[in-house]
Amino acid sequence: MKTVQIKPDIYWVGAIDWGVRDFHGYVTPNGTTYNNYLIMDEQITLVDTVKHDFSEITIDNIRSLTDPSLIKNIVVNHIEPDHVSSIDKIMELTPDAMIYISDKGKKGLERSFDISKWNFTVVKSGDTIKTGKYTLLFLETPMLHWPDSMVTYVKEAKLLISQDAFGQHLATTARFDDEFIECASHAELEDAIVDYYANILMPFGQLIKNKIADIQKLGLDIDMIAPDHGIIWRKEPQRVIESYLRMANGGAALRVAIIYDTMWHSTEHMTLPLMQGIKDEGVDCKVIKLRATPMSVAIKEFWKSRGCLIGTPTLNNIMFPTIAEYLTHLRGLRPKNRIAGAFGSFGWGGGAVKEAYEEFKRMGLEIVEPGVQVQYRPSADDELTCYNFGREFAQKVKEYHVKFNP
Ligand code: FEO
Repeated sequence: MKTVQIKPDIYWVGAIDWGVRDFHGYVTPNGTTYNNYLIMDEQITLVDTVKHDFSEITIDNIRSLTDPSLIKNIVVNHIEPDHVSSIDKIMELTPDAMIYISDKGKKGLERSFDISKWNFTVVKSGDTIKTGKYTLLFLETPMLHWPDSMVTYVKEAKLLISQDAFGQHLATTARFDDEFIECASHAELEDAIVDYYANILMPFGQLIKNKIADIQKLGLDIDMIAPDHGIIWRKEPQRVIESYLRMANGGAALRVAIIYDTMWHSTEHMTLPLMQGIKDEGVDCKVIKLRATPMSVAIKEFWKSRGCLIGTPTLNNIMFPTIAEYLTHLRGLRPKNRIAGAFGSFGWGGGAVKEAYEEFKRMGLEIVEPGVQVQYRPSADDELTCYNFGREFAQKVKEYHVKFNP
């Protein structure tokens, strides 16, 4: 896709990755984009690069606007390979360019490239450069989501180039929020924001709140947010900030996600009375078979819901492997403000439900014990026990949910 002007003399020069479905293990059913931006000022400045597979595309885009050898400055907001792995190709074209990068960014970059001949200016929060009519202000955002991360504010354009923050994995010909909503919907866009936040930013809620507060304290006038993935927020930049704050403050739907796996359908069968009990308490419920669902989708469904019930058969006295993998993945994301319980079936000796609760405790989640365990196939009495546990769990979810929605 050819370049798109996003502000006077500032252009999107990125690439659309329609085909990526596995983004370091994160399933991206809608592909993604690698956004980078060229500021055609007196000093031509490139903000970020793209994944190496797309280096020729971004170079062609730059060439359509200028000779790449005229680029004077390159800002590296983040050194994850999807944004920096074509920098060597760019540097071959403009070897004297100055690279503006955080200290940790530079230390990381030198582990991947021979940087001995490259020029660097290490920047920290508050540093600025003038490119001509534009002033670039750098703000470090460490651990959002890597130690090197920073964002770049283009003052006279009221433009925040926000790196991964506020991004979405969406391959689309729409470059702006209003364009996307016109051909899709707000709901689809919101789902993409939640998906991205849940799978990448969930551990950093407090940092996100602090950083947004810092930016607000600086009084930066922002009328456009341009992330490094997905659409650019030109119509409603406030909308994505509010979504982030809502999630960072524990926002979730009054809903239970039942996430389960099953060997011979006994654990699966238990989901039916559990779901009915939850429903009869007036709480929405979504049932997700983990083995048939990408991990990142199951993470998103967990994050969207106030409560989660994990269903696991016992296999060799421990949790079913898919469930163990899921809970390990979830623990790494340091979930907060959610309430959990477990259920499952076993043959001759249990163990899986107990292990699931141990994982919840390690995560520090609120829990409703002891859950439900069934030997072999659920009997009518077992079904009633499941139904009653579903009701009890839903009641607890409602009580807990009130804390966030007083
Ligand atoms: Fe899109 Fe952290 O890289």
